[in-house]
Amino acid sequence: MMDKQLLELVFDNLYNGIYVVDGHGVTIGVNKTFEEMSGFTNAELAGRSLYDLVGKDNYFSGSASLLVLERKRPVTATYSTSTNRKFLVKGRPIFNAAGEIEYIINTIWDLTVVQYSQPIDADTARSQLLSEDDLITCSERMMAVVDLALRVAATDSTILLTGESGVGKSLLAKTIHRSSERKNHPLQQINCSAIPESLIESELFGYEAGAFTGADSKGKAGLLEMAEGGTVFLDEISELPLHLQSKLLGAIQEKEFYRVGGRQLQRVDFRLIAATNKDLVQLVSEGKFREDLFYRLNVVPISLPPLRERREDIPTLIQHFTDKYNRKYNSYKKFSESLVNHLVNMPWKGNIRELENVVERSIVTTPGNSITWEKVQIPGMEKIIPSGLGLKAILAEHEKEILLQAEDQYKTTRRIAAILGISQASVARKLKIIKGNSAS
Ligand SMILES: Nc1ncnc2c1ncn2[C@@H]1O[C@H](COP(=O)(O)OP(=O)(O)O)[C@@H](O)[C@H]1O
Ligand SMILES: [Mg+2]
Repeated sequence: MMDKQLLELVFDNLYNGIYVVDGHGVTIGVNKTFEEMSGFTNAELAGRSLYDLVGKDNYFSGSASLLVLERKRPVTATYSTSTNRKFLVKGRPIFNAAGEIEYIINTIWDLTVVQYSQPIDADTARSQLLSEDDLITCSERMMAVVDLALRVAATDSTILLTGESGVGKSLLAKTIHRSSERKNHPLQQINCSAIPESLIESELFGYEAGAFTGADSKGKAGLLEMAEGGTVFLDEISELPLHLQSKLLGAIQEKEFYRVGGRQLQRVDFRLIAATNKDLVQLVSEGKFREDLFYRLNVVPISLPPLRERREDIPTLIQHFTDKYNRKYNSYKKFSESLVNHLVNMPWKGNIRELENVVERSIVTTPGNSITWEKVQIPGMEKIIPSGLGLKAILAEHEKEILLQAEDQYKTTRRIAAILGISQASVARKLKIIKGNSAS
């Protein structure tokens, strides 16, 4: 066993930040790397509860540890600090013999961009910065995906992200860029299906003066040039026309290409991430996608599982989006437990994008602070009856929601009793039981 002094030396010389918390959410300590990353010192954090450190205008925007305590399982998530730094945190619970969480060890990657050069050419309307959204997951499969992404982020390999629409490909592409050595250079994104075929070539490769009618008289750099030193993210790569697929292949292999109408080779340095929700192997066999480009892109394939194959993420994501939209709309709404249980069982064909929309819509349109099964309109949800509960338990759940909603709306037991046509004593008794249960 290494002695204590050596262990401390290792702790402070890790490449990652480390943040150790006890089973009550109290900070035990952080290492030197974390101090450097965050700008916060061990002295100011140690002994302080995360419940006091987390929140709007506080030290941290959120906490993996608090989620670990709540879900009793590992969590991977990105967060920012009040000093405008951005982190990817992997929180891992350590259990004692009694099965209680004794410690949580958080390993932290710095996603902060130090000097972000303006990545968007003002008139390149279609290329856009990926949004500043946070990634969060507690599913084993998705955490393995993020681990793989972090490992290859450090290399310069081309990455191919696959998965249904809405599973988080764009978000992961951004996370990869941010955790790579290229993070202080631009990230340029283009969605190949959103741009008319006739424009893709000049958007990607740029053009020289007089290349075509209507072209800028000075010529213009394309996305690949604008990404110099950084990352190019080509979304929906299957929609790239065949003749441009070979030009792209050349640009990836030789790191040089001609602008449209140009005669001078442009040398570029970029890392390519491509994404698709199509089966490229199938498209190759149909002759609709170049086989050589496919192999060149498929160096590191990363496949993101659909939400219905990682339902354990759903409660965490609902909580995450509820917090996000409560902040945005200055509200304090909460999804009821039984509504969350219903949502976990939905098919989610639109994956996380659909879930996020449902949460935002529910927050905007539901009166009162508790969002319940009765109040929300979610297409497809009526048909699902939770399995394994039985009629009695389902009815009890509904009764609970009705009472909480009534309390929200009518405040006093007297008015609730009048509205529901039961005695005031029984309203009081039922509410007492409900609250006694939910507080435990
Ligand atoms: N793991 C995640 N945690 C939080 N938000 C996520 C996660 N994955 C996806 N999202 C959000 O869901 C939406 C869809 O994700 P996106 O990356 O655009 O999917 P795709 O590119 O695969 O269609 C985005 O708003 C994104 O921020
Ligand atoms: Mg996308």
